[in-house]
Amino acid sequence: MAQNGHNGTGDTASGATTNKILRSQEWFGGRDLEGFLHRAGLKAQGWSEDSFSGRPVIGIANSWSEATHCNSHLRDLAEHVKRGIIRAGGFPLEFPTISLGEFFLTPTSMLCRNLMAMDVEEMIRGLPIDGVVLLSGCDKTTPAALMGAASADLPAIIVTGGPSLKGNWRGEELGSCTDCRRFWSELRAGTITQAQYDSMEEAIYRSPGHCMVMGTASTMSALCEALGMTLSGGASIPAADSRRSVFAEQAGARAVELALEGVRPSQIMTKAAFTNAITTLLTMGGSTNAIIHLTAIAGRAGVELDLESFDELSQSTPTVLNLKPSGKYLMEDLYYAGGVPAVLKRIEHLLDRSCMTVSGKTLGEEIAGAECFNDDVVLPLDKAMSDEGGLAVLKGTLAPDGAVIKVSAASPELMQHRGRAVVFESPIDLKMRIDDPDLDVTANDVLVMKNAGPVGGPGMPEAGFLPLPRKLLQQGVRDMIRISDARMSGTAFGTIILHVAPEAAVGGPLALVESGDMIEIDIEGRRLDLIVDEAELERRRAAIAGPAGDSAAWHGGDGAKSAGQRGYRRLYLEHVMQAPAGCDFDFLVGNTPVETHVEAPEHAAGHHTG
Ligand code: FES
Repeated sequence: MAQNGHNGTGDTASGATTNKILRSQEWFGGRDLEGFLHRAGLKAQGWSEDSFSGRPVIGIANSWSEATHCNSHLRDLAEHVKRGIIRAGGFPLEFPTISLGEFFLTPTSMLCRNLMAMDVEEMIRGLPIDGVVLLSGCDKTTPAALMGAASADLPAIIVTGGPSLKGNWRGEELGSCTDCRRFWSELRAGTITQAQYDSMEEAIYRSPGHCMVMGTASTMSALCEALGMTLSGGASIPAADSRRSVFAEQAGARAVELALEGVRPSQIMTKAAFTNAITTLLTMGGSTNAIIHLTAIAGRAGVELDLESFDELSQSTPTVLNLKPSGKYLMEDLYYAGGVPAVLKRIEHLLDRSCMTVSGKTLGEEIAGAECFNDDVVLPLDKAMSDEGGLAVLKGTLAPDGAVIKVSAASPELMQHRGRAVVFESPIDLKMRIDDPDLDVTANDVLVMKNAGPVGGPGMPEAGFLPLPRKLLQQGVRDMIRISDARMSGTAFGTIILHVAPEAAVGGPLALVESGDMIEIDIEGRRLDLIVDEAELERRRAAIAGPAGDSAAWHGGDGAKSAGQRGYRRLYLEHVMQAPAGCDFDFLVGNTPVETHVEAPEHAAGHHTG
C-alpha cells in the first residue's frame, strides 16, 4: 500500500494538495497523548497499528436493528463492506446509527427521520473518518442517511439492504405490503377467512430485506442509483442473494477511492442529478413519499426542488415499470429483468447522462451497456403503462400549497369527480366511525381526514390510505376518493390524495371542511377544490380560531405547537416544515462540509509525504 495516496498527496477533487493529510490522520498520526489514546482505542479492539496506520479510515454508518426487520441483515452485510475497504487499503470503522422501522416504531417512523439524519451527520462530523458507507434499507433509513451525508458532505456511498424475497402464499406471489392491504380489505369484506389471512403472515416475508413492491424503500433504493450515490445495479439485488454481498464489498472498496479522491456528495447530488431522480421516480410509478424525501435531501445539498417540477416532469415521463402497487411484478423480477439500469436505459433520452456517479463514471457510461431481459417488467416505450408519470400535483382552494396523488395507483373513473365530503377530524375519529353501519356514506362521496400532517400527526403518519367503510366493501366497492394531509405507504393503492398543504393543524383550508360540503377533483386539470363560498369559510375560520383570532388555536388552542412537549418532539414541533418543503427542520437545510484533508501538523511528519 503506497503511503502517498493514503495521506492525500497530490491533487484531489476537493482541492487537497501535497502538503495536506487525510483528516483521520489528525486522530491517528500524532505522536502525542491524543494520538496515543486514539491508537490505543483501536489496539484495544485487537487491531495492529499496521492495520490502520496511514490508511484512509472509512466509516460504516449502520442502521442495523432487530427493531427494523428490513435492516436485520445489515450487520452481516457490513462485514462484506469491510472486506472491500480492507481490500482497497482502507481501514473500516463501523458505528451504529439509530434505525427506523416501519412496523414497530410509534407513532410513526417519519417523526424520527430528521433525528436519524442529525445522528448520521453528527457521527460523520465527529468520528475520525475520511469517507463513509451508509447502510440502509427500510423506508426512512435511506433518506435519513442521505440527508445526514449531504449536510456533512464528506465522501459517501450508500449501500441499501435490498428487497426481501417474493412472498408466496399457496402458489400465489405476494408483495408486501400491497397484498397485506389488499387481503385486509377482502377480510373486512368477508371474502376470505381470518385463518386464511393469518396464514399469509409467514408467507409474505421470506427473508430479510425491505418491502419488495415499488414502495418507499424500493423507490428510494432505486433513486440512489439515479442520483449516482450508489453503485449501478445494486438497488434491486434481493437481500438474500450472494450478489448483494459482492455489491457491498465493491462499495466498500470504492469508498476508499472516493475518500482519497475527495469526491463529495455535493459533487454527485447536483440539480441535474435530482432531476434525473425525479424522472426515475415518475417512470417507476414510485412512492409519493419520495417527493418529500427527495425535496429534503436536495435541501441539504443546496438544491431547491418545488412541487411544480415534479408535476412538469410527470407530464413528459412515461411510466414504464410494471411493478406493484401500480403494476404486476416485484423487485426480484426487476432484478432478473436487468435492474434499475434497464429502467434508466429505457428512458435515457430523458436523463442528463453527464451526471457523475460515485463509481467515477457518468450515469451515461454506467447504463451504456444496460440490457432489459423482460419487456413485460420494464415496458418498451410504445407499450408504456401511461404516457405520463405516475404522480400528479394538485392545487386549488382545498390545497393552496399543493397536494399529491399517485395517478398510476388510482382508478381511471375517479380522475374527474365531484362528491360530498364525509369528514373525519383525525385518524382516531376515522378508526372509531369508519365501520359504523349508520355512517352516512356512499361510494360517490369523498372521504376526508384531518390532523395527520407534519404537525397534526405529529410526524405525518402513513394514515392516508383511509380504509373504505365496511358496508361499502361488502357492497363490492373497492375504491373511493380519499383526501388527507397524511402520507401513504408507497405500497398502498387507490385514488388517494395526500400531503394536502397547508395541513389542517396549521390552519390550512382542510381544517374548514365539513361533512356535506362538495369537493371537486380534476386530476387532468390538476385541481382540488372545496366548493364552499369564502364568506362561509371565513365564518368557520373565525369559529375555530376563537374570539381573539389567535392562530395558535390551530394547534389545539394551547398557545404553542409544542406546549406540553419535551425533548425531541418539542424540537420537532417547533421546527418541522410543511410537506412541500420536505418536512425537514428549518435549521437543518443546507450543508456545512467537513474538511476532507487538513494541514499536516508537525507531529504527523512521518505520515505524509507532502
Ligand atoms: Fe421496511 Fe416496508 S417495512 S420497507
